Amino acid sequence: MEHARLSRLRTLMRERKLEALFVTGAHNRRYISGFTGSSGYLLITDEKAYLLTDFRYTSQAPEQAKHFEVVEHKPKVTETLKDLLKACGIEQLGFEQQHVTYASYVAYAADLQGVRLVPTDSLVEELRMIKDESELAVMREAAELADRTYAHVLTTLKPGITESDVALTIEFFMRQHGAASVSFETIVASGERSALPHGKASDRVLQAGEFVKLDFGAYYKGYCSDITRTVMLGKPTAKHREIYDIVLEAQLNALAHMKPGMTGKEADALARDVIKKHGYGERFGHSTGHGLGMEVHEGPRLSSQSETVLAPGMTVTVEPGIYLPGFGGVRIEDDVVVTNEGVQRLTQSTKDFIIID
Ligand code: GLY
Ligand code: MN
Ligand code: MN
Repeated sequence: MEHARLSRLRTLMRERKLEALFVTGAHNRRYISGFTGSSGYLLITDEKAYLLTDFRYTSQAPEQAKHFEVVEHKPKVTETLKDLLKACGIEQLGFEQQHVTYASYVAYAADLQGVRLVPTDSLVEELRMIKDESELAVMREAAELADRTYAHVLTTLKPGITESDVALTIEFFMRQHGAASVSFETIVASGERSALPHGKASDRVLQAGEFVKLDFGAYYKGYCSDITRTVMLGKPTAKHREIYDIVLEAQLNALAHMKPGMTGKEADALARDVIKKHGYGERFGHSTGHGLGMEVHEGPRLSSQSETVLAPGMTVTVEPGIYLPGFGGVRIEDDVVVTNEGVQRLTQSTKDFIIID
């Protein structure tokens, strides 16, 4: 599996005329090599693939990174890097500009004299956008865990408990059923707070007659899920129903019409135009979705600025919302995979307007 990824990366490197690439992004390192340790660097040339790590991982690394030659680096990693570059006759080194601090760059420039440093932009991230079957299988499980968690938390919602209580129920259930952790800080936003798109769970006490917005996900076997549902506690007003129905219409319209070949911008418009048509365009101030995988937010973006073309194997969220300050808000979010024809949902939870009496 890692070998196929390595050869796809080498193809990209050849296209970009890169002799060698130094991979410092943690998710990129894991994706390309299979190594799950907390510290390490990849040096990839057309012929060689090295994993540089430290004493803590000299047993684990060769077990996991089967296609890599594992090298225990010196305390100063650039000393080892310099030796390897020299041995390989490399004079030009690509580095990941999103994953190198300015301080590290200064150190590379000082310690690797004679080597031309070339910034690269999201090479591995570009590969990661298209998930293979093994990744999709894990992502389906991560999504299913989010679904089961939603079904469970619904049985616990009632007036009198706090948002933090609800978050704890969600997080405990996910951990109990295989999640290594949450994929991001759990959002539980009730009543007026549901108008906060990212209202983290607080000590606010749930009351009857209000929305409860739940947004959470599992970090499971190295991959993320991310689901939002908004439910009604007690009797809804006409306004509650109105905005729920509009958000649902927007979300369903995007799911029904998204397809490969479309840009992120066009996908965003599928949801946004429905909300605008009903007069709430100004109250939907974030993008329609984002790529999801090893990270909870990755490419491609489904936003009004995104020219990225959707392709089969991409996994994204679809999450329109309407937020009315002083009243409350609704967001509905699913995870989907782009197929040859359209999209297929990974999260399957019901989106019926749920009223908890
Ligand atoms: N909770 C983060 C997101 O839905 O993007
Ligand atoms: Mn979310
Ligand atoms: Mn999301």
